[in-house]
Amino acid sequence: MEYCECKKKAEEILAKMDRKEKIGQVTQIFYTEDNLEEIKEAIRTIHPGSIILCNSMFAGNEAQATVKRDKIDELQKTAINETKNGIPLIFGRDVIHGHKVVFPIPLTMAASFDMECIRDCYDMVREEAVYDGIKWTFAPMIDLCRDPRWGRIIEGPGEDPYLGSLMAKAIVKGFQTDDLSDEEAIAACAKHFVGYGASEGGRDYNHTEISDYLLQNTFLPAFRSAIKAGAATVMSGFNDVNGIPISANKYLLTDVLKNQLGFNGFVISDWDAIRQMMAFSGFAADKKDAARLAINAGIDMDMVDNCYIENLDALLDEGTVSEQQLDEAVLRILTVKIQMGLFEHPICKRNPYNVQKHLAKAQQMAEKSIVLLKNENNVLPLGKSDSIGLSGPFLEDKTELVGSWALDTDYNHVISPLEAIKQKNENITIITHTGNLAHNIMQLRDCDAIVLILGEGRDVNGEAHSLSQPSIPENQLLLAKEAKKLGKPVIGVLCFGRPIVIGENDKLFDALLFAGHGGSCAAQAIGAILFGDAEPEGRLPFTLPYSVGQIPIYYNAQPGARQINGYYNDENPAHRNYLDCTGEPSYPFGFGLSYTEFEYADLKTDAESLGSQELNKGKLFKISVTVQNTGERRGVAVPQLYVRDILASRMRPLRALRAFSKLELMPGESKKAEFSIGYEDLGFFLENGTYIVEPGEFYIYVGENCTAKNQIKISIT
Ligand code: GLC
Repeated sequence: MEYCECKKKAEEILAKMDRKEKIGQVTQIFYTEDNLEEIKEAIRTIHPGSIILCNSMFAGNEAQATVKRDKIDELQKTAINETKNGIPLIFGRDVIHGHKVVFPIPLTMAASFDMECIRDCYDMVREEAVYDGIKWTFAPMIDLCRDPRWGRIIEGPGEDPYLGSLMAKAIVKGFQTDDLSDEEAIAACAKHFVGYGASEGGRDYNHTEISDYLLQNTFLPAFRSAIKAGAATVMSGFNDVNGIPISANKYLLTDVLKNQLGFNGFVISDWDAIRQMMAFSGFAADKKDAARLAINAGIDMDMVDNCYIENLDALLDEGTVSEQQLDEAVLRILTVKIQMGLFEHPICKRNPYNVQKHLAKAQQMAEKSIVLLKNENNVLPLGKSDSIGLSGPFLEDKTELVGSWALDTDYNHVISPLEAIKQKNENITIITHTGNLAHNIMQLRDCDAIVLILGEGRDVNGEAHSLSQPSIPENQLLLAKEAKKLGKPVIGVLCFGRPIVIGENDKLFDALLFAGHGGSCAAQAIGAILFGDAEPEGRLPFTLPYSVGQIPIYYNAQPGARQINGYYNDENPAHRNYLDCTGEPSYPFGFGLSYTEFEYADLKTDAESLGSQELNKGKLFKISVTVQNTGERRGVAVPQLYVRDILASRMRPLRALRAFSKLELMPGESKKAEFSIGYEDLGFFLENGTYIVEPGEFYIYVGENCTAKNQIKISIT
């Protein structure tokens, strides 16, 4: 049913509702397994619009009540049979990157640069969640972030607005399908609007300083994409912008999100975020003041802090909140529920799904998301009869690599990296990663290679888990140093959810794989890549800093007044970034090696220049490049196209990703990568949200990462 028809039906329902029901509809309460009768009573008395299937504010870090489909159905029956207008509840849960079968964390998935595979994964996540009665998820998290000290960087798409936009669309479509009214569809929630990833110092819940120019060109693109993909809901962030908490920020929630971006779904606050304006931000005098500020700013539903249910009646009586404001919020919520078909099928059907198919896809996604950073003397892939020494704190892990925000994992599907490696090669020697390392490591002196499964647990990333030193922990470095002394190839498998500082520790390893937190099948993916049953095709969706002191360091930086190189070269002493450190990262955005080599040639455009008018009418620059596999093994090249606007009325990034593709190439094979670049790719937003494309010249770079030298020039006349 079209949006306007849904809205019309919603208006008819709204007209039958009294104030008490309206105040209930803008209220979300939380669920715990052991108080079903209390919740039923709440449904009968306050008529909440939604129930969140979580029982604590740290759903990503603490065990939550398991989802019991029959209990959800019981609560839904209470709502539709025992309330005045029988308005169905919408049940939400943080299904962020999997349900029973868990896919890699979003930041790890981003490294695949494979949107089709990401959408397929979320299609399966949807199947599993809706089977359990979950019809609303608080994902995608699309907070762009340039600071690996912030633990929640793991939930998002990384540092690039274009990649973030593509992921936003892939995830929204995976959950909502192409028809939100489909009984099998789940409403998505683009979060956290907006700029939460800019938390100062990488400290969670901290202040964010975001200019309108940065907002429009860096933090909003992924939300524009999510809205264009039809995201039914948006969640506001905890952060403040321009001195106003998002929860009370009418400019951002109404003027920008609803009016400028045209979002016509509903906005829910984050957990307790409205009350926190009173409790922490010093922005609201009390919960009543907080409720007034929030609903007048454009927060349509209050997540669990009861500010709305306790205060809206009085606020309406005193006239500081208008009936029309409340009606607008209720209308948005009802319209989404009608779009979802909740009135027709409040108890969604239960279609069994194919777990083995989901597990196979989870392994494929994890394999595609592993990035080969280094491979001296081609020590990788390992031979299946090589004698392999094994150690590391995550060698026998069966929980941490699933990643944070995995509330419903079925751990029966999870094996350890050790078990996965044994499936490939039994000729192994295992040593513990603790105790007398110098002594232990001697047991590996006759091995052909040493593999260290290193990383971080999910209890040091995710929400409220910021680190001042996002790097390889000291005890893990000691293990690598001892292994290095043996003079054998040392392979580091870095199972870090977040980007980390590599720096001079790079030299401890002959080969390095960045494996992220790969989900239920992380181990199988590591085994497949280590022994060459899968080729590494991941590319970094973030920068790996050389030192913490460089942070924030990101590829799409603007040139400075005299520091003109960003992190692309540090040669010119006059423009050196630092006296005491290189200005270049350990590994740049878009970087990733393969077990083979690729050569790029013949970069060209079908037109040197196009007129502004032609461009506005949709004419495109057709850019092509030929890529050849010059090695001995099959490989997947990921040609990336970056744009630089050479002269513009605002400072523009030195490089901005605008297109990429993935080319599977057999040894010796060549293929042409073709890109179409046009109006949408060559402009930028002014502070007020106006998009402009200016005449002038542009560099186009195409290569295997953001430092590609291969360049041509195009111009708009
Ligand atoms: C948390 C998170 C948010 C999550 C919500 C519900 O505090 O900030 O991302 O969706 O609460 O669990």
